[in-house]
Amino acid sequence: MSQYSEYTNEQIHTMDKAHVWHHLTPAAAAEKGMPLYVKGEGLHLWDADDNCYLDASAGGVWVTNVGYGRKAIVDAISEQLMELNYFAGSMASKPAAVFASRLLEKMPGMGKVFYSSSGSEANEKAFKMVRQISHKKYDGKKRKILYRERDYHGTTIAALSATGQSQRRDHFGPFVPDFVEFPHCFEYRSQFGDVEDYGIKAAQLMEEVILQEGPDTVGGVIIEPITAGGGVILPPEGYMAEIQRICRKYDILLIVDEVVCGLGRTGAWFGYQHYGIQPDIVTMAKGVASGYAAISCTVTTDAVYQMLQEDNGDKLGFFRDISTYGGCLAGPAAALANLNIIEEEGLIANCAHLGEVLLQGLHALKEKYPMIGDVRGKGLFCGIELVLNRETKEPVDEAVAIQIVNACKEAGLLIGRTNRSFETFNNILNMSPALCITAEQIEDILNILDRVFAKVTL
Ligand SMILES: Cc1ncc(COP(=O)(O)O)c(C=O)c1O
Repeated sequence: MSQYSEYTNEQIHTMDKAHVWHHLTPAAAAEKGMPLYVKGEGLHLWDADDNCYLDASAGGVWVTNVGYGRKAIVDAISEQLMELNYFAGSMASKPAAVFASRLLEKMPGMGKVFYSSSGSEANEKAFKMVRQISHKKYDGKKRKILYRERDYHGTTIAALSATGQSQRRDHFGPFVPDFVEFPHCFEYRSQFGDVEDYGIKAAQLMEEVILQEGPDTVGGVIIEPITAGGGVILPPEGYMAEIQRICRKYDILLIVDEVVCGLGRTGAWFGYQHYGIQPDIVTMAKGVASGYAAISCTVTTDAVYQMLQEDNGDKLGFFRDISTYGGCLAGPAAALANLNIIEEEGLIANCAHLGEVLLQGLHALKEKYPMIGDVRGKGLFCGIELVLNRETKEPVDEAVAIQIVNACKEAGLLIGRTNRSFETFNNILNMSPALCITAEQIEDILNILDRVFAKVTL
């Protein structure tokens, strides 16, 4: 007997419509009734009417890296909660200690893990670290954080202040001072036309902003290793190394937001590891526990940790921060079981291999359908950019992307899209199936997309 057995699906829909305020959803859409998913297994989801879907969106927003229905994770959580569910994160716990040390084995060069419970929060911690370091070392001066056009870093006001997506920011200003945007590195829509060394040129756009602001005022730069919600944008050749070089030159902390790319999504433990850089701070959430529990981490080098321990006379000699749910022991217990699954099932290698198969399949669809202007991806993280004209790259209207997402759903496939993020560039579909996907399921995804694209009306 579950807690809900006394309710019919109809009653659940009625209660939902009456009382639940759905994320990102206008009232008119909610009034029609939202999908009611009731079960998941592997990559499959079932709704209350017993329709089955292949989920290529990892829970809608790149979360369920190891798929649905993982008993090992549920058991690990349940055992931990029966033993001890909570004590504040200022104390030691078995799951937090063991997960941190196992995580750091995957992140050479990093030294400490600070726990909280969402991606936005993990980024807030990083910003607060930069600010506290600026007070301790630079009399509060080196406090600005630079963020990149098209990147997203979260829903809270400071994280949104660090977000380069105009429509997400609409109506929420004024923003927190001292967050400054620098230009994107999206080669498909290059600021310089077709140039050989685009990656270097794009990184130098960041240096220009540092120089305009004054290097002695800039304390941190935050980037996504691969921009997710902004359109699955991979860094161009040479870009990441140049960003790191510039940060080092001006003594600026490099923060890499791995909230989407972390824990295997791109075919490496972390996205930044493809590009040979060594960040100062790495943030992560989503795939850390694949949605079985709410957990996020702000991981720093020992050097960053030490900067915050120094006792400079009357100044604070530690990072003065706590999140209540950073102490909930379900998080690291789930994260440890999640990490064990990724390792034992070889999911990073599966992701790299089948991600390549998916990408090749999408390139084949591009040959067939002129409205596919660009296909890009790394591991099981792919984007399809839709255009009206391949020469001019004029984007299709958001309605076309919505039409395709809906048609895929009708055909039993869940995919994602840029969702009211930019004025004109909500034209990108994305896919991020669980890392345990099979070759047959990749084929199913490609076949459904093929059938859907054949029927799209512009
Ligand atoms: C790159 C990135 N950073 C941060 C966040 C915020 O994470 P959360 O929604 O867990 O606060 C997101 C959410 O989509 C994200 O995509």
